[in-house]
Amino acid sequence: MLLVLPSPEAVARQAAGHIADLIRSRRARVLGLATGRTPLRVYELLSAELRAGRLSLAGVTTFNLDEYQGLGPDHPASFRSYMEQHLFRHSDIDPAHWHVPDGMNLDGDAVRSHYEGLIVAAGGIDLQLLGIGANGHIGFNEPLSAFDSRTRIVRLAPETREANSDEFSDGRTPERAITMGIGTILEAREILLLACGAAKGEALAAMIAGPLHPSCPASALRLHPQVTVLCDHEAAAGL
Ligand code: GLP
Repeated sequence: MLLVLPSPEAVARQAAGHIADLIRSRRARVLGLATGRTPLRVYELLSAELRAGRLSLAGVTTFNLDEYQGLGPDHPASFRSYMEQHLFRHSDIDPAHWHVPDGMNLDGDAVRSHYEGLIVAAGGIDLQLLGIGANGHIGFNEPLSAFDSRTRIVRLAPETREANSDEFSDGRTPERAITMGIGTILEAREILLLACGAAKGEALAAMIAGPLHPSCPASALRLHPQVTVLCDHEAAAGL
């Protein structure tokens, strides 16, 4: 389902409302979470609900999509720090129940078996939140990632390193990252993808109407039966 909304604020409100509903009704106990600029407002809205006591993450388990390689948990640009800052410190989640891939583990096979083992042990992901890269990536699955790829270490595309360089004081985004694979993402029971702004227009058009091909990793989502895309008018301009 594609929902075009008037503004990024409307996208964030719709997404936060949906996520909160699923948590409250216990239809989502295991969440897959994304980082980046797009979901920031969603986390802000959820944090307000959590602080007001209108929402609880007790009993919820989360798995983030990805992490930069070589960044320890306390590095300010790590996705672990991002999640702690923007959501978890406002919540009552059990710290043992939120997971981000270990950026310090350089052994790809170990990363995969550990992280995917945790997801399976938790019962699988009920709802996976996604953004989309301007080059069509999901998580850090860059163009030409196989649709059946699993959690692994990847080399970031130059445009992705450039897009995220602001997060690093020296402007140097790490060269590699750990990401859930496209195959891993497709196993979530439900997927919610957010896209805002003109910079995402081309990627969104390729995802929805382009060839079903690894040149646009997000096009793989057309193979999933339960995907909702929330976007603003600017991102939808190319559709
Ligand atoms: C990042 C992340 C993705 C994210 C995407 C878009 O690099 N790895 O998970 O969805 O790129 O980011 P943004 O929302 O900042 O545009």
